[in-house]
Amino acid sequence: MDSDKKAMPKHIGIIMDGNGRWAKKRGLPRTYGHKEGVKRVLDIVREAYRLEIPYLSLYAFSTENWKRPQKEIDNLMILLQSFLVKYIDELVENRVKLNIMGDISALDGKTRDLVEMALDRTSNGDKMILNIGLNYGGQDEIVRAARRIASLAQEGELDPESIDKTLFQSLLYTKDQPPLDLLIRPSGELRVSNFMLYQLAYSEFWFSNVLWPDFDEGVFNAAIDDYRTRDRRFGGL
Ligand code: FPP
Repeated sequence: MDSDKKAMPKHIGIIMDGNGRWAKKRGLPRTYGHKEGVKRVLDIVREAYRLEIPYLSLYAFSTENWKRPQKEIDNLMILLQSFLVKYIDELVENRVKLNIMGDISALDGKTRDLVEMALDRTSNGDKMILNIGLNYGGQDEIVRAARRIASLAQEGELDPESIDKTLFQSLLYTKDQPPLDLLIRPSGELRVSNFMLYQLAYSEFWFSNVLWPDFDEGVFNAAIDDYRTRDRRFGGL
């Protein structure tokens, strides 16, 4: 019953996985899986703003994905570029603010320019923050924060005694955002793969065998419904 349901998650993270296997099952090149995967990105972003989820984090490209063949990397970047070009107006209209998690200086010039255009165009969004992990790794994010803290201390601008979770959090890509409530991973893999390691300390996990190109609004809502039955204690009783 609806009245038994607990609060909606404020922050949902998704490790979008299984594009390659989806294509292989159909005898298609991996790129078809990624292309279909982008359609689900759009469906899920739309569903998230329909449900008024204030923070959605999607893992699009990891610091480890550079090990893939250059052709596949190029294809992923082209898909990201066309997503930004095609849907930027819709994101702005729905007051979505884009935030990139990861070091975009390593991206090719065209992708970087389009990402910067999208960051700029959506900068006034106040309904939903859409975090996209691009050249992102959770360990890398933590190491960068630590490096920043060390240099502030070295310059005498920070007393090591004053380092706390609030300060640490303010140096992450998710500055000023709440931690992850719900982490979703489709495709049957039961691992975290270096995604939002700091932010997921108390998140609820939801796994499914569905491959990302088959991950529709119904599956997304099933994950949220399951989350709303969970008893979150945060270490308390
Ligand atoms: C994992 O599937 C998926 C990726 C590495 C890429 C995810 C990216 C997108 C869906 C497109 C990004 C675009 C936007 C607009 C954010 P896999 O290739 O690892 O699949 P497999 O495990 O079955 O091989």
